[in-house]
Amino acid sequence: MAPQVATQLEHRREPLVVQPEQQVAGRQLAQAEAERVAQLRRHRTHLDGVGRGVQAGDVVGRQAPLLAHPDLAAPAAAEPGGGVELGLGLDHRAHDRRAGHTGVDEIPAPESGGRPAVVGAGLAGEPVQRDDVGGAGHRVADRFEPAALGLEPPAQLQLVGSVHARVAHSDPVGGEDDVVDAAGRPGRRRFAPDGARQHGRLHRPGHDRPPVRIGQNEHVVGFGPGPGIGRRDHPHGVGVADRLRTRHGVVSCRRRRDETLTWNIVPRLGLRVADPPSILHLPDDAFLLRGDGFAYALAVTPGGDLRHLHWGGPIEPADVGVLLTDDAREFGSNTWSSPRAHTEELVAHGGRRLDESALKVEFADGVRALDLAAESTAVSGDELTVRLADRHYPFAAELHYRVRGGALERWTTLVNDGDAPIVLDRAYSAGWALPWQPRWVATWLAGAYAAETQLTRRELGPGRLVLESRRGIPGHAAQPWLALDAGDEARASDEAGAVWSVALAWSGSWRLTAELAADGRLHVTAGVNDFDLRHPLPPGTSWTTPVTVGVFAAAGHDELTDRWHAYERTHVVPRPDAVRPVLYNSWEATFFDVRPESQLELARRAAALGAELFVVDDGWFAGREDESAGVGDWTPDRSAFPDGLKPLADEVQALGMRFGVWVEPEAVSPDSDLFRAHPDWIYQWPTRPRTLARQTHLLALSRPDVRAHLVQALDALLSSAPIDALKWDLNRPLTEASSGLEGAGSVWVEHVEGFYEVLDRVRERHPGVWIESCASGGGRADLGVLSRAEWVWPSDNTDALERLAIQHGYAYAHSPHTMMAWVTDSPTYLTKREIPLRFRFHSAMTGLLGVGGNLAEWSDADLAAAAEYVAQYKRIRATVQFGTLRRLSGAPDDVTALSYLAPDGAQVAVFAFAPSVRRLRRTVLLRLRGLDPAAVYADAATGTRYSGALLHHHGLRVALTGDYASELVVLDRI
Ligand code: GLA
Repeated sequence: MAPQVATQLEHRREPLVVQPEQQVAGRQLAQAEAERVAQLRRHRTHLDGVGRGVQAGDVVGRQAPLLAHPDLAAPAAAEPGGGVELGLGLDHRAHDRRAGHTGVDEIPAPESGGRPAVVGAGLAGEPVQRDDVGGAGHRVADRFEPAALGLEPPAQLQLVGSVHARVAHSDPVGGEDDVVDAAGRPGRRRFAPDGARQHGRLHRPGHDRPPVRIGQNEHVVGFGPGPGIGRRDHPHGVGVADRLRTRHGVVSCRRRRDETLTWNIVPRLGLRVADPPSILHLPDDAFLLRGDGFAYALAVTPGGDLRHLHWGGPIEPADVGVLLTDDAREFGSNTWSSPRAHTEELVAHGGRRLDESALKVEFADGVRALDLAAESTAVSGDELTVRLADRHYPFAAELHYRVRGGALERWTTLVNDGDAPIVLDRAYSAGWALPWQPRWVATWLAGAYAAETQLTRRELGPGRLVLESRRGIPGHAAQPWLALDAGDEARASDEAGAVWSVALAWSGSWRLTAELAADGRLHVTAGVNDFDLRHPLPPGTSWTTPVTVGVFAAAGHDELTDRWHAYERTHVVPRPDAVRPVLYNSWEATFFDVRPESQLELARRAAALGAELFVVDDGWFAGREDESAGVGDWTPDRSAFPDGLKPLADEVQALGMRFGVWVEPEAVSPDSDLFRAHPDWIYQWPTRPRTLARQTHLLALSRPDVRAHLVQALDALLSSAPIDALKWDLNRPLTEASSGLEGAGSVWVEHVEGFYEVLDRVRERHPGVWIESCASGGGRADLGVLSRAEWVWPSDNTDALERLAIQHGYAYAHSPHTMMAWVTDSPTYLTKREIPLRFRFHSAMTGLLGVGGNLAEWSDADLAAAAEYVAQYKRIRATVQFGTLRRLSGAPDDVTALSYLAPDGAQVAVFAFAPSVRRLRRTVLLRLRGLDPAAVYADAATGTRYSGALLHHHGLRVALTGDYASELVVLDRI
């Protein structure tokens, strides 16, 4: 039973009380505890050297139970003096209001659904200055013990806010230390004799740095004295980034000698602590998977079935026993019932499984029924694998579960252990069971080309909702993402209500089904689309499905959005912590008419606006005068670029921007050298006409030779000029699912695997290159591609009003820091709608700001205004890109409003849009969510001060007058 965190938060100063139930077992544990306390006391002396020490058992500041992870003791014991402290701190502004307590913020009780808590520790009466890291003695290093918060290790910790670190060490003689640099290379570090102290700032305060994660077994942050191992963001020149590893939240550093060392890493707001992602193997072969705010339970029955027990809010291990004896779950209550996800973790076709199954195969003898029994289970860290083997054939399905913060990832490996071929007719990643509810409402992102990700909500009746793509890419019609809730329309359901959601990380044809049984239970499946699928599994091989991700939120769509954004930022996108640059893309300015002079002119103007990345879109390569030719030949057009792209790239970079180009590697124009040389490299049926789409064919990336060619061609392109970014596009569907290769697998699967392989190899060879994913706009914006691309081009529709609706939906499934948005000319070429510059900028500033207009024709006044918007965006972009999104109003034909709260809570950006005057409305009152009610926020433009409580309970009044009115209000916490 977890101790109640709330009780530890009261103003008090008393020893840490370890709840009896926390003490795993009797005397042994008491002994261990005594040792641990002794260790901690030894640490204390070291702490005294840096700040005011705390006694083991102290409660510091307002709450800060002295936190000590059991593992903390271990390195200290093994390496005397090498102990490590993890210091937690709060920005002093948070404390000043608390009557001299520089303590801690809130730690929500576990029963709040296990949502992340902010933990911090400070020292009463010693306010911490924002920039005081250089000064000694202000911080206290508190030990951190997840268990004391009711969290079992390994806890997942995330630093929020800006991070400061200080290292202090004392050593009688000084000496050398073994260190490992950020690239993993071993090195030596000299340090001075006793009393030396080095400190510095790791991340500058303010808004220009993203949060830094401390995850289990991840190296994180840190620096220390000594030459040679540089870290770019070290400001004081003393050195050095040691590569520190955290294990269970403990930062460790190997010491050679008996000196003392204290690392004091001070996040300004503290550590965000998630419930520990952990997997418990319980009696009766039951497993309880617990992540941040959710639990998932399953069990192997004595008969070898793998039964589903629970998916939803956190439950206790003891509850699993109750679920196991819940007879209502038994299958077979009447002749017509069919085992489904509520009774079986894997519903595999065979017997009475006549509803949507997740797996269907054909054995060599023509048998198409499966009969699986659990064979083994294995837990490794946050991952559980259950192997189900067929009772007759040498075939197995391994079900994988991995806890990732607030998300559960699941996938399946299908194994042919025999010597006869097997064909997979359907191999979904997993089936998901949602519990009984009287009513189910589905939320999904439907759309079309230039109208992607439109938020769609419908009540489900008994029957099956099918969302899918059969186009070889995720497509524009729907995103592989679905959320399900009880649909309480009385409220917006933003702030309350349980929501389950499922996504699929797959950049090809996919299928999600939600089948509501008449008994009110809901079954969701997610996987590669089985449309036209016959995927061979030759003898001795295996195939692993893509990952499906399940995210549960106990408190409505706000929480669900936070969890998806956190998952995507923490576990999916490359360079998660890097601020995305302001982009200029020349597509709408020049279309296919790409000439160096005009591009350079655009580049000059873009640079003057403050753009940081300049991308030349379609039209730069040989033979590309219009849509009809050239795709496939990734060499610059000789007449326009006689010396290649390098001169232009150099000039762009000399203007202070990075340089990128558009490519469409998977397509080929019939009128191209590549197609002329390899007409057999495309998907085609031998006896059927080939389907042209946007005047291209699709290259057969299922073929190893095509993959190798593309890697080589892109490598040559990226080596030919200093290219920093690629916009990777695909503008046609997969139509003829045949590569003509004997014994090949299913093209539907292998094309996507080929795409991933080429992209991965290109990224490997050119790790500095950033990728934008595009497929005629937002046709490929799934989690699979997002693990390989820094951002997505969500739509070709750059009409700022249309974009509000597209972006509104997009941000349900994806973080705004993957959502590119350009300001283009008015009217836009697609909608012909005229929209003022201000509205266009504000709309684009809610995501990754880009500019895509023909700057050569912009007036001086517009250019000057644009430069101001860009500058303003840079002041808020860390808030937009890494902050917490709240949808305040989302009706695109009326008022759309949204806010972003910076990770450290210090800044709020509020956007409001009204396309037309309605009902004589002149102002709107926006009730902001997520602010500190006790804090004071100042309007950066007017200086007006508001309390957080006022902004929440009464609202922020925003004037929206006239058609296409828009407003951006930036509030700084003071
Ligand atoms: C697609 C993309 C556009 C642009 C064109 C170029 O439509 O979505 O952004 O790159 O191709 O042909």
